[in-house]
Amino acid sequence: GTLDVKFGFSIETGESSIAIKQALDSSNLTLQGIHFHLGSPIFELEPYSAAIDTVFDSLKPFFRQGLDLKKFSPGGGFAIGYLQQQLPPSIGDYAKVITSMLKNKCDDLGINYPELIIEPGRSIVGRAGVAIYTVGVTKVIPNVRTYVSLDGGMGDNIRPALYEAKYEAVAANKMSNTDFETVTLAGKYCETGDILVKDVSLPILDSGDLVAIPASGAYCIALSSNYNMNPRPEIVMVSDGDSRIIRKRETYQDLMALDLS
Ligand SMILES: Cc1ncc(COP(=O)(O)O)c(C=O)c1O
Repeated sequence: GTLDVKFGFSIETGESSIAIKQALDSSNLTLQGIHFHLGSPIFELEPYSAAIDTVFDSLKPFFRQGLDLKKFSPGGGFAIGYLQQQLPPSIGDYAKVITSMLKNKCDDLGINYPELIIEPGRSIVGRAGVAIYTVGVTKVIPNVRTYVSLDGGMGDNIRPALYEAKYEAVAANKMSNTDFETVTLAGKYCETGDILVKDVSLPILDSGDLVAIPASGAYCIALSSNYNMNPRPEIVMVSDGDSRIIRKRETYQDLMALDLS
């Protein structure tokens, strides 16, 4: 969605037109369609309509020369609700904006509607996952901050450390408690920046309590690591009161399995 990124061909610099021309002139390439991905997560609808407008305008000269656009993808980036205060548009709203702008542009340009492809990514699985951590020790720095340590962290969810992603947290075994305090949930890894949620109001936590972080189904295990030689957690599928393990907890033997003596 911006000029200064490693991905894609820029419209602004003229590179995208050069790339399309090369594809059209090439005897061994068949240009099937156009794709962009604006970034993610995108909580507004306007960037999609603005981008479709801009991209189709930039294609005008090629349409005049007979470009037959068979496929079109406005990428992904459909946001999910990480925070109660920041809820995303519905999938229907994204669909409405994308399809109506696409239809308008095609009608204006007098071209056939291309096959619409979308890349929904996190919006499929993000909210299906809830990360559960066990509380360890608490460190109180008077008048500064209270750190509550958890038995996971940047190894299973690097998003807060990598790009300051924000999450909600709840005390899973103390949902009806009312004695709240503000704490910072710290991961177990040897990095100062290994913080999962900063300054969150939670029931007073003791060692052994369970903290749940919702919306952990995307870009957590997929981006996970064995940093600090830490085995990854198991994944449990839960549905209608039933549960089954769908990914085993890693063992230290698993971590050593590829090492040669
Ligand atoms: C080209 C492309 N499409 C779709 C996606 C999915 O993004 P998200 O899961 O944030 O919706 C990505 C993610 O990086 C992407 O690079």
